[in-house]
Amino acid sequence: MTKSTDSLSSEAINGLNGTCAIAGDKSISHRALIFSSIAEGTTKIRGLLKSKDVYSTLNALRELGVNISIQKQGLVEVTGTGMHGLQTPSNSLDLGNSGTGVRLLMGLIGSQQISATFIGDNSLSKRPMRRITEPLSQMGVEINDNNGLLPITVNGRSSPLPLSYRSPVASAQIKSAILIAGLNARGMTSVSEPTKSRDHTERMLGHYGISVFSENDSDGNYKVGLIGGGKLKAKDFTVPSDPSSAAFLIVAALITKDSNISLPNIGINSQRIGLISTLQEMGANIKMSNFKEVGGEEVADIYVSSSSLKGVIVPADRAPSMIDEYPILSVAAAMASGPTYMENIGELRHKEADRITVMAEGLRLAGVNVDETDTSMCVHGTKDKWGNSCINGGFRISSQHDHRIAMSFLILGLVSNDKIIVDGVSTIETSFPDFVRTINELGGRINTYKN
Ligand code: S3P
Repeated sequence: MTKSTDSLSSEAINGLNGTCAIAGDKSISHRALIFSSIAEGTTKIRGLLKSKDVYSTLNALRELGVNISIQKQGLVEVTGTGMHGLQTPSNSLDLGNSGTGVRLLMGLIGSQQISATFIGDNSLSKRPMRRITEPLSQMGVEINDNNGLLPITVNGRSSPLPLSYRSPVASAQIKSAILIAGLNARGMTSVSEPTKSRDHTERMLGHYGISVFSENDSDGNYKVGLIGGGKLKAKDFTVPSDPSSAAFLIVAALITKDSNISLPNIGINSQRIGLISTLQEMGANIKMSNFKEVGGEEVADIYVSSSSLKGVIVPADRAPSMIDEYPILSVAAAMASGPTYMENIGELRHKEADRITVMAEGLRLAGVNVDETDTSMCVHGTKDKWGNSCINGGFRISSQHDHRIAMSFLILGLVSNDKIIVDGVSTIETSFPDFVRTINELGGRINTYKN
């Protein structure tokens, strides 16, 4: 049973206005902790995301013997153990809901002479891990793989076998786990993927002094590799603001009337902002300025105002650059005129929930027509020829332990004709703990719902 305090309701507003700071990028925060932990020396990390998922990784690294101190003003100091200094933990490593945490740490343990058992919450325990355990086994790492589902025990080795791996899917988690395991391999480890996924690992390894090569191979795949045996050197790091969190505010401002918001210093890595390109093709008024570099990543201030959207076909090869943004795109698509086709999104079925089915079912409750296949979804926008969209509220839906599902339906509530209640909202803490406060400070109406 969901506790009543774990429910929020969201209702129609006039618009969102103002400027708000978005917390640090989740993907980059995990990596900053992991790389600082095996670097030589002490790294000061500024802007680390203080969310449940990131704390799962932080606590696991502490279990592995890393000294991490959380200081005032958001500063986190990590004293690295060097490339071979992690210790076998006395407890299982509980990664909670964090797919990135568990997969990247499996790669890390794989290249240390230690063992660890990984566990997670119900949602993480249903997610496929063979995509990581399989290549790690090929690197000679001994794994009790439990049919590809947690709990999984990894018995690492100080020097795994180098591997040249062709990943069947574009996945930064697969790519990163293998490259991390390859750091201590004797020789070159490389990963090629059908379309380039987010490249934070490649960039950050460069920041810590490891050379990483990348090229487009003869089949047009993106290939990235490194030679094991190098040493990461501690170097202070600043985490840019998370474009995947900003995405909820961007869509909220576009679909509500009389909105004008600005979001400073958002990461605009091209492997992360497929949503912005898609929304601009739909007619969104989104502008960027003040381009800078933070932590080896490009950032910009993003300005968004209310816009009349039309449906589009989202190019299939754009999927990796907006893989976490399809739930909120489908909310924008519901408010648009005409259909929005989303293809090549089968990976959404393996996220915290099956995001295709859960979004489709929820949108149907709101009166939106949605078609789905195994690997695609089409949302039929409700905007009529007079420019009016119609979203029926008055329903209650479960987050299915998925933070992005919870936030997407709360944004939908801001334009619905009656309130939408979302149960199981504590999951939002995994990535965007300030979500409700941020939205409400700009003019949103999201409130605790008690039965
Ligand atoms: C992430 C990669 C993506 C993304 C996830 C974060 C990362 O997963 O969905 O939220 O930090 O590497 P996949 O690698 O499974 O696509």
